[in-house]
Amino acid sequence: MFRLQPPLPDDYTTAPNDELVRRVATARARLGKRLVILGHHYQREEVIQFADRRGDSFGLSRFAADQHDAEFVVFCGVHFMAESADILTGPHQQVILPDLNAGCSMADMADLDDVEQIWVELAEVTDIEAIVPITYVNSAAALKAFVGRNSGAVCTSSNARAVLTWALELDAASGTGGPARAPGSWAGSRSLGGRGNKVLFFPDQHLGRNTGFQLGYGASDMQVVDPRRRLGGLADAEVKEATFLLWKGHCSVHQRFRTGHVEAFRSEHPDGVVIVHPECSHEVVEIADQVGSTDYIIGAVSRAPAGSTIAVGTEIHLVDRLAREHPDRTVLSLDPLVCPCSTMFRIDLPHLAWVLDGLVAGEVRNRITVDEATAVDARVALERMLAIA
Ligand code: 13P
Ligand code: SF4
Repeated sequence: MFRLQPPLPDDYTTAPNDELVRRVATARARLGKRLVILGHHYQREEVIQFADRRGDSFGLSRFAADQHDAEFVVFCGVHFMAESADILTGPHQQVILPDLNAGCSMADMADLDDVEQIWVELAEVTDIEAIVPITYVNSAAALKAFVGRNSGAVCTSSNARAVLTWALELDAASGTGGPARAPGSWAGSRSLGGRGNKVLFFPDQHLGRNTGFQLGYGASDMQVVDPRRRLGGLADAEVKEATFLLWKGHCSVHQRFRTGHVEAFRSEHPDGVVIVHPECSHEVVEIADQVGSTDYIIGAVSRAPAGSTIAVGTEIHLVDRLAREHPDRTVLSLDPLVCPCSTMFRIDLPHLAWVLDGLVAGEVRNRITVDEATAVDARVALERMLAIA
């Protein structure tokens, strides 16, 4: 999707930081309860310090859905998060993304045309009624709407297991003991509440694969769907036999973590603990000590005893913040050379000051809206997730 953030006036790009901090604080005070600022954990310090609520994508979706009073929701995160907030808030509320170029490269790896094309091709070789489409929240609103229309659901990294358990009608209590029934043995239909015997999971293959393994499935139950090839590059039999059809998408930040990083950390810190985000590859997740969403990682680091050494495989702003907040523990990036998420990084103090000054002046800058037809279906998929998890 083409989005364009016009350059900011010089007054914002050349202002010293303390002046911008003062402007943001003043605007925030003037707007009072009319404004709520949400900040994803990957945001820079200069921005996150102003967040009324920090969170992972699930926590912030839920929080946004509960904000009935604020007229303006300024979302310091990326485009798909602001879209979800717009879908979940009321018509009297406006959601603002301080920099329109703050997208997500993973979300851009799946678009509606490609998903619809694969869906049609899948229907030619298997019972489409038994495939449940699941989209990671890191996706465009149009894909959430597709999922809503087709009896599927959204998931985030903190509830993928619950959502897939729901989708495949597994026994929620089966834990890591494996599927409650043999994969492929399901014989129901959409009339059973939208669940089936296969999932088409997009756009992140890693979250889908890692969750499938967590649920007790094996590699032979999973196939990667390449959107650039007919039927995803799969043979008919591969489609029929798979339980997980995993879209060939990834996060370029999390895919950088390698097993070699885990081995290097362990040889230097034999008692150290490795905690990674489930967007990392399965090879890394398999040998890590713990895996979980950004909220999970924060909890795990704060529960670790003083004196422990922890290597974290996720975006560097969160890792550095955890290190600062826990000076009695050594918190390191699993990859010493990791890059920040370049799109999360676009939200900075000048852009935050610019949108807030606009609100004070009565001008809504960078509003994110999802058209009502899309929003209706996408809301079904998001609310289904909120109800499941
Ligand atoms: P969380 O769901 O953990 O917030 O992660 C969102 C994200 O974009 C991770 O890269
Ligand atoms: Fe997207 Fe990865 Fe950045 Fe998360 S870290 S917003 S998945 S590019």
